[in-house]
Amino acid sequence: MAMTDTAPRSVSLKRTPAWRALAAHRRTWNARHLRNEFFADPQRSVHFSLEACNLLLDYSKNLVTAKTMSLLCQLARERSLAERIKALLDGKRVNASEKRAALHTALRAGSSAPREVRKTLAAMRTFSDALKARKIFGASGRPVSDVVSLGIGGSALGPALAVAACAPDAESPRVHFVTTPGEPLTRLLATLDPATTLFIVQSKSFTTQETLLNSQAAREWQKASGNSILFAAVTANVRAAQAFAIPAERIFPMWDWVGGRYSLWSAVGLPAMIAMGADRFDELLAGAAAMDAHFAAEPPERNMPVILGMVGLWHANFFNMDARAVIPYEPGLELLPVWLQQLEMESLGKHVTWRGKPLRTDSGTIVFGSPGLEAQHAYFQMLHQGTHSVPVDFVACCLPQTGDSKTQEFILANCFAQSSLLMRGTSAAEIESELATANTAPHDASRLAAHQTLPGNRPSNTLLLPVLDPRSLGALLALYEHRTFVQSAILDINAFDQWGVVRGKTLADSLQTALSDGTSPLSDPASAGLIQHFNTLKRKNR
Ligand code: F6P
Repeated sequence: MAMTDTAPRSVSLKRTPAWRALAAHRRTWNARHLRNEFFADPQRSVHFSLEACNLLLDYSKNLVTAKTMSLLCQLARERSLAERIKALLDGKRVNASEKRAALHTALRAGSSAPREVRKTLAAMRTFSDALKARKIFGASGRPVSDVVSLGIGGSALGPALAVAACAPDAESPRVHFVTTPGEPLTRLLATLDPATTLFIVQSKSFTTQETLLNSQAAREWQKASGNSILFAAVTANVRAAQAFAIPAERIFPMWDWVGGRYSLWSAVGLPAMIAMGADRFDELLAGAAAMDAHFAAEPPERNMPVILGMVGLWHANFFNMDARAVIPYEPGLELLPVWLQQLEMESLGKHVTWRGKPLRTDSGTIVFGSPGLEAQHAYFQMLHQGTHSVPVDFVACCLPQTGDSKTQEFILANCFAQSSLLMRGTSAAEIESELATANTAPHDASRLAAHQTLPGNRPSNTLLLPVLDPRSLGALLALYEHRTFVQSAILDINAFDQWGVVRGKTLADSLQTALSDGTSPLSDPASAGLIQHFNTLKRKNR
């Protein structure tokens, strides 16, 4: 991979002409309401929509006008976004602090992928096909019935999302995910046969404590039953996997130019390939590759990741909208928000630029979300009437994956209703008029109106997939990967390192020792009282 840093900036972000113009333009929004924008342009939802890779993005319910979009695209150009995208896709050292490329796009480049990628995909296919043909056997000579993925963070979230979306009922073998040690693994093992269970240790570093604790427990469980261990591994640390006695032909490599949260497309996707089948996993890769091609080719005005990223920056940095909700209205996408939390918050949750200079703008937003029909009965009250305005990404599918079309229409009606109501709200006058029609006394109508008013003017995107299948899922996830990169490029953030998580792991190791041997850690007085309380309780319960 060619390794060169991306070019230094001539002008700081806030001093660019486009940023200054956006700051002036922002003031015009104090007098605007989206309801009036739709009155002024009845075709607005058409004028502010874009199709790519069979996905439809309706961004008309955002706090944008044609001028806003023009200035955001101007900002993209002033920040040399096209050059930054090319540097990413060409394998330049965009991960400056670790001096690495970030070439997750090479993993789905098909015949033009690097040789080691194609070789690994072929090995994955051979292994997956053999498992599905019941030609991989445990010590008893019976075929593998269950595959258990032991991994956490990016080593689990991507494949778990893909399985939930595209192969939730996979049999022969069944595929399970365990991320944290203790009860979750114990409960699962109680339902499995050690003679026909294969474990896949999914860990780029092969040093993540949660995964190692689970791997050791699984190995003891399998040995204690009198069976030889049945393990595979996905890792960049092949030596550590061999030291764990995993046979070389069952160690699937990944590389340091693949970030954990960007690794679904690598051998980390093996559990997903096993669940959905290698051909459908290829479809997942192809969907992502189609989005890569769109991302590389289209100008900002017609570039879906660029539009999503720039509009997100506009809300975050000019309206101080620090949070963002991602609400999937498709049953198979319930894991999308948690996958996006790691992707966006581990990529954009930084306080310095990639050169180590303090950030002068807000960086990533706080991402949350959950299945839409449940969220409506949980926190949409705050989204509609709270004092915080939280931009929402609604994600839905037009056609049912397996259910009936009537249910799909019910789901879509709720999705569209929520986004429309967030945009237009309900005025006190409308409410008083409705209450008067219902013969409510004027005094009561006026009193109630205050409680029932919805301010509206709350932005949202709606992303519509044709149906939830591997290809549309691949395009959707690549879209969000590139949205994340767009924001990092404009803000000058390194989206591909995660130094903020290292210290927590180290401190946890020292505190675990203190908890085990009952000492009070001088290294961390903040925990001393908690550990003392723990030790007292432990002594009482001996
Ligand atoms: O949270 C830190 C992190 O390194 C993530 O980036 C990564 O996805 C996860 O932990 C698991 O790491 P590994 O794959 O090395 O076990």
